Amino acid sequence: MSTQLYVTSVEEMQAAKRQATQVHDGLKGVTVGETRLSQVDGEHGKLCYRGIDVGTLAEKSTFEETIYLLWWDALPTAEQLATFSAELAERRALAPDIHRLLQVLPGAAEPMDALRTAVSALTCTVDDDGDRCHEASVKTAMALTAKLPTITTAYYHYLNDEESIPPDPTLGHAANFLYMLHGERPTEMESCAMDVAMLLMADHGFNASTFAARVTSSTLADLYAAITTAIGTLSGPLHGGANRRAMEMLLAIGSADKAEAYLTSALAEGQRIMGFGHRVYRHVADPRSHTLRRMLYKLCEQHQRMDLYELAGAVADLMATKKSLYPNVDFYTAPILYLLRVPLTLFTPVFAISRIPGWTAQVMEQYANNRLLRPLARYVGAEHRAYIPLDRRRA
Ligand code: CMC
Repeated sequence: MSTQLYVTSVEEMQAAKRQATQVHDGLKGVTVGETRLSQVDGEHGKLCYRGIDVGTLAEKSTFEETIYLLWWDALPTAEQLATFSAELAERRALAPDIHRLLQVLPGAAEPMDALRTAVSALTCTVDDDGDRCHEASVKTAMALTAKLPTITTAYYHYLNDEESIPPDPTLGHAANFLYMLHGERPTEMESCAMDVAMLLMADHGFNASTFAARVTSSTLADLYAAITTAIGTLSGPLHGGANRRAMEMLLAIGSADKAEAYLTSALAEGQRIMGFGHRVYRHVADPRSHTLRRMLYKLCEQHQRMDLYELAGAVADLMATKKSLYPNVDFYTAPILYLLRVPLTLFTPVFAISRIPGWTAQVMEQYANNRLLRPLARYVGAEHRAYIPLDRRRA
């Protein structure tokens, strides 16, 4: 009887050990926490922020309203929105030291690297008193959200031996970004396109950069550290770096009639087509792509670039037929940014500028109910190796 009990418990222990050491490659399908921020429904192709459909938000709201929604869990009243927008606009300017830092970065650093470095440097301009409450975090989140477009555009101008363009407090967040980039006020349609693109990128569950930010904040490191981590994670081609590469591909293809030959050869070579496929939306289109496609249509019409719309559409149709892969958020964002005359090198920084409300909201959510994020790894390396003293080692 006792032996039987013993065997059962060994079996149980072995089963528990097997389960504990089961590897989930790429964390695919693993749920690691809870969020009240964005609901990503990969089966039906739906995305909501705080329960509100993003398509509806993009149609009826602004980026600023969306930030408010993410941080305070409610859409603002007209008065709250006016106060919040003014507070955000007030924080856009950078300290002279940050401008100097951007001017002396060595070797024409990539704008994403400059952005990450400047955000990290912003930590030095504040004293961290260790307070991780919502009120304290929102202040930092507001400063970061306000300053990211200023850092990005200032660095771009410095790289081109130009003066940076100070923010215009009378413009909304998206319009001000375009203004600081081009030195002229965007049209209403351009501001709207930028605003919609930013709004649609504001949050997206536990994507890689958000998860990275949550891991950092789970150690109770400050928001600057978490956002520095997130920017580094976003920069890779499989994440935020895809929008620029999607545009480079569209430019390389040139016109809709050349799309089939290009894709056939690229896919035959085993290339990944940037802007397609998604870890969560596996069999449906990314819900953000519908709104973005409509926005691209309007912009192409206004800029008399229907050829670009047809090219993007041809690539999307071919990818659906050939690979059953659908556009993700990066695909239609790319030609939108291109028509807004955003330089290709700034495409991924634009993703960061857009995602900062989500990153910061997710960090605040992590602080509010924190548990150190610390997974396991299964060791598969050598075991029981003899130690060789230094004088007996041979190359
Ligand atoms: N082009 C060609 N084949 C693809 C693509 C693509 N864009 N995406 C997936 N596949 C194939 C992949 O080769 C694999 O085929 P097989 O099973 O024959 O090896 C299969 O589809 C499954 O791919 P996976 O890599 O296992 O899927 P994943 O969930 O690990 O990767 C992804 C998701 C987004 C990294 C991937 O679709 C990809 O590399 N896309 C291109 C880069 C891109 O657009 N990234 C932006 C992602 S959305 C916004 C964001 O989060 O930044």
